[in-house]
Amino acid sequence: MAVLVTGGAGFIGSHTCVELLNAGENIVILDNFSNSKPDVLDKIKAITKKDFKFYEVDLLDPEGVEKVFSENEIDTVIHFAGLKAVGESVQKPLEYYYNNITGTLILCDAMRKHHCKRIVFSSSATVYGSPKTVPIREDFPLSTTNPYGSTKLMLEQILSDLYVPDHDWSVMLLRYFNPIGAHQSGMIGENPNGIPNNLMPYVCQVAVGKLDHLNVFGNDYPTPDGTGVRDYIHVVDLAVGHLKALQYARKHTGVEAVNLGTGTGYSVLDIVHSFEKANNIKIPYEIAPRRAGDIAECYADPAKAKEMLGWVAQYNIETMCKDAWNFISNNH
Ligand code: WQD
Repeated sequence: MAVLVTGGAGFIGSHTCVELLNAGENIVILDNFSNSKPDVLDKIKAITKKDFKFYEVDLLDPEGVEKVFSENEIDTVIHFAGLKAVGESVQKPLEYYYNNITGTLILCDAMRKHHCKRIVFSSSATVYGSPKTVPIREDFPLSTTNPYGSTKLMLEQILSDLYVPDHDWSVMLLRYFNPIGAHQSGMIGENPNGIPNNLMPYVCQVAVGKLDHLNVFGNDYPTPDGTGVRDYIHVVDLAVGHLKALQYARKHTGVEAVNLGTGTGYSVLDIVHSFEKANNIKIPYEIAPRRAGDIAECYADPAKAKEMLGWVAQYNIETMCKDAWNFISNNH
């Protein structure tokens, strides 16, 4: 039996594959390299000294997806593959709905045909919209403010509906907060193409001298220092959370939404100062206008993950900043 990891060459996917292989899991990776690079596969093998089957397949290709399931005994899917840039989704809603929703429907159809009824889904804290209070629990109201977030919320609903007529399904909806950092080897990490949208990759580009300063999007939020507060979580902690969710899903059926966050919020300036201190590098910044769609504060109540999965984030912000720098300084 094998675990299929869709989007396994991506940032979170590749770190999860490392943890799965190190835990002795037999995995199959599917990726179309739309937001990842083929050399990541070799790095996963180098880090783990383990091998795996790989298929360069787009989830929008039903024949390609069928081939993966007919050639392998897949008993669980960990589903990362999807477009994930918030700003881009506002400009290209049709691409986001078509790619993320239709791709997942094709995946689930193949799963059903091959009697694979266990899925761990890459969801996002963005499904909470603009929370009235923090920390955020899984039973908080759900709403979205952009097509990317709407695809995540719709897919949570679609996957939950699979369980209603067929209680053999096991569905884990993992709601990520803000993943940053990199594997301690420095061989895999976050290296988006073009100008980064997200804070840490942007800080890293300033640190390597590709960008001359960081624009801090607003310092007039109702937060301790006026800048946006988020729950930054080490990508390896996030990866381990998927392994724990897989182990739970093997023993239980049903639908469970679980926050994967640290439970601690850090502001933009906290991140800048932590990065500077951890790596002894100056990060010049300028205060800029707020970014449309941003919220003031977002961080998790991670109690359910601890109680249900026995999972607690281990790495602190200093390690996240050091590991992010270690990766980008060796791979820019
Ligand atoms: C973090 C903070 C910005 C860039 C998004 C998605 C979420 C998830 C993670 C997919 C905010 C500030 C940022 C910059 C800045 N992605 N910032 N200057 O927006 O919390 O979450 O990415 O699942 O779904 O919504 O992350 O890193 O873009 O922003 O000041 O150049 O950094 O205003 O306060 P965000 P982010």
